[in-house]
Amino acid sequence: MGTSRMFRIFVVLGSAFMILLIIIYWDDVGASHFYLHTPVSPGPKVPHPVPQKRPQTSRAPSFLSDIDAFVNQFLEPGTGTIYTAAGVEDSPDSTGSRQRRRLLQEMCANDSILFHGKNRSFDDIPNKELDHLIVDDRHGIIYCYVPKVACSNWKRIMIILSESLLQEGVPQRDPLAIPRDLVHNSSMHFTFNKFWKRYGKFARHLMKVKLKKYTKFLFVRDPFVRLISAYRNKFELPNEDFYRRFAQVMLRRYGNQPTPPASVDEAFSLGIHPSFSHFIQYLLDPQTEKDMPFNEHWRQVYRLCHPCQIQYDFVGHLETAEEDAEHLLRLLRVDNVVEFPTSSRNLTASSWESDWFSTVPVEARRELYKLYEPDFRLFGYEKPDSLINE
Ligand SMILES: *[C@@H]1O[C@H](CO)[C@@H](O)[C@H](O)[C@H]1NC(C)=O
Ligand SMILES: *[C@@H]1O[C@H](CO)[C@@H](O)[C@H](O)[C@H]1NC(C)=O
Ligand SMILES: *[C@@H]1O[C@H](CO)[C@@H](O)[C@H](O)[C@H]1NC(C)=O
Ligand SMILES: *[C@@H]1O[C@H](CO)[C@@H](O)[C@H](O)[C@H]1NC(C)=O
Repeated sequence: MGTSRMFRIFVVLGSAFMILLIIIYWDDVGASHFYLHTPVSPGPKVPHPVPQKRPQTSRAPSFLSDIDAFVNQFLEPGTGTIYTAAGVEDSPDSTGSRQRRRLLQEMCANDSILFHGKNRSFDDIPNKELDHLIVDDRHGIIYCYVPKVACSNWKRIMIILSESLLQEGVPQRDPLAIPRDLVHNSSMHFTFNKFWKRYGKFARHLMKVKLKKYTKFLFVRDPFVRLISAYRNKFELPNEDFYRRFAQVMLRRYGNQPTPPASVDEAFSLGIHPSFSHFIQYLLDPQTEKDMPFNEHWRQVYRLCHPCQIQYDFVGHLETAEEDAEHLLRLLRVDNVVEFPTSSRNLTASSWESDWFSTVPVEARRELYKLYEPDFRLFGYEKPDSLINE
């Protein structure tokens, strides 16, 4: 009797172990499959130079950590498990990124700071909300891109690192040589929301393993200055797409234009475009989110990057982009592969804030602050008292 019971336990444990083995083996097959087929370029395969792999721990510990991650899923259902890459903790940091990470952890743990989706678990984040996380398996990097925060330059760097343009003759070390429309073409980037298609029901498991092992970063900037930048870029310059999708709506609703001009060229030639104040009114209008979620150029960073579900290893500030970039590339161990392009463009400066907001009523500024307060607090930007206490 005793031995047959023991035998049954043995069989059950053995089968569970085999299932684990199959799942983990399957992950590795999946990863190497991706490694061989980079997203674009169906052309002839050129042998890859020796990849700049991060020093790998031996097979055994990483095998164990896979099992850990897998088992954790069952042990901690629904808790917001936080994932981080090992080893980053110990790197020297002169940029203040470490304080920013600590602040982020404090803010996520502080129950008096609330926002939509804050305390859901990673599993509860819908796939389509994971579309800003770009994965580079070659170097073990995950980048959450935030539009209007140097995202073109960081996307260029991610493309260079993925080596997907090697065959097209784009100089390997020059991010600025990549044509602009390619940079923002989503087929150039392997994002988390594409995991489902490639890995099926193992997608979430694989995401979690990658979140645990890879180095994750994002760049942020002052939320109000980001809005000024978005407005300048999308509505002060003629942009047909944004004119049709957003400017016409603003002109109709707030600009006394029941029938706005049909095309952006026509509108600009008549000197018609929504004012900054119209843009702010649009953001504050409850109807806006009812129609569809905020466009990514003005969607809050906490909604794009899920900073309380994903423990970022590096939080860069655009205000100190060059120092931060230098430090980050060293941290990612790719400073010998690529350089962050220095920008000579006319960047939106924080000092313009009071000018820009002078046309926006104080009450609207206060409401706007509430809308973006989580971004201010999570990422260490001061409340703009001079703007909202007039
Ligand atoms: C949480 O945030 C509140 C409000 O900002 C602050 O007063 C409090 O000290 C914070 N609590 C902790 C434990 O940091
Ligand atoms: C999540 O936050 C809400 C408040 O927004 C709170 O009522 C709820 O208890 C929280 N859930 C967990 C699991 O902490
Ligand atoms: C993106 O690139 C793919 C393949 O290179 C191409 O088929 C597609 O038309 C491009 N999309 C846009 C919007 O340019
Ligand atoms: C930058 O843009 C601002 C406002 O759009 C303008 O006033 C300023 O002259 C520009 N500076 C340069 C160097 O182009």
